Amino acid sequence: MYQFKRSIDLKKHLELVRKSGKTIGFVPTMGALHNGHLSLIQAAKQNTDVVVCSIFVNPTQFNDPKDYEKYPITIEADIKKLNDVSTDIVFLPAVDDMYPEGLDGNIHYDFGDLETILEGKFRPGHFQGVGRIVHKLLDIVQPSKLFMGQKDLQQCLIVRKLLKIIHSSTELIVCPTEREPDGLAMSSRNVRLSPAARKKATAIYQELNAIKNSFGKGLLFMESAYEAVDHLKAQGFDPEYADILALKDDTLVPLDQPATDDMVVVAAIAAWLDGVRLIDNIIIQGKL
Ligand code: PAF
Repeated sequence: MYQFKRSIDLKKHLELVRKSGKTIGFVPTMGALHNGHLSLIQAAKQNTDVVVCSIFVNPTQFNDPKDYEKYPITIEADIKKLNDVSTDIVFLPAVDDMYPEGLDGNIHYDFGDLETILEGKFRPGHFQGVGRIVHKLLDIVQPSKLFMGQKDLQQCLIVRKLLKIIHSSTELIVCPTEREPDGLAMSSRNVRLSPAARKKATAIYQELNAIKNSFGKGLLFMESAYEAVDHLKAQGFDPEYADILALKDDTLVPLDQPATDDMVVVAAIAAWLDGVRLIDNIIIQGKL
C-alpha cells in the first residue's frame, strides 16, 4: 500500500494512474476505522481499479471543539486494517496542506434546507465544513466513484448536492450501514461508550425498527417518532431528534401527511448517551 502525506505527491501519482486507463475509487474517512469503513473499501475494490482512502480529521466540520479534541486517533491500527484489505493508497494529509488559506475560508455552498434540518440544526456549520473538505479531496483524487456510508445519510445527500454544485463527474455510491450483532450502527464514536452505555445503545436501532413497523398505520406512524423520543428518554438517552422524512428533489422534508407509494421514506434519530452523540437512520420505503 502506498502512503502519501502531501497532496502534491498524491496528485502526481494519480495522474499516472489515470493515464494508464485505470479507474479510481475513493473512500474519505476521519480514521478510527471500523468494519463500516472497510465495507466501503471492499465496495470500492469491487467497482474500481485503484482504491484511495484518506484519513483526515477535518477541523472545519466540528462545531464543538471538544468533539474535535476527543475524536479518536488510531493511525497505526488504521493503516494495518487498510493494508489487510489490500487498499492501494492511503492519504494522510496535514491540516496546513488541506487548508493553506487558513481554516476561516470564505467559501459557501448553497445546500438549501438540507443544511439546516436534522444534523444541521444541531451542528451549525458542520455541512459547510464537510462540503469544503470533500471538495478539496475530490480535486486532489479526482475519482470516478466516491463511496460513502448510509449511516451518515444527510451527509450523503449533501455530497450528492455538492457534486452537482461543482459540476463533478464523480459518481457517489451510498453503501448500506454496517451494524454490530445487536444492531448498533458502527461508528468511530462507539469506542467512547462505557460498557453499560454500549449495551443500551442498541435501543436507537430498536426504535427505528419500531417506527418502520408502524408504517402504513396512518397517523400512528407519525406519532411513532414522538414515542421513540419518549422511550429513549426513559432509558437515559438525551434525544435531539427522531424524525420521519421523505426524500424530495435530493433533499429531506418532514413527512407531515401519510406517505404515498412513490415516496422514499426514512426515519432518523440522533441522541446523546454517556456524553457520546449517536446517530442512525433506516429506510422505510423506496431506494435512495
Ligand atoms: O464521514 C466522515 O468521516 C467525514 O465527514 C468525511 C466525509 C470524511 C469528511 O471529513
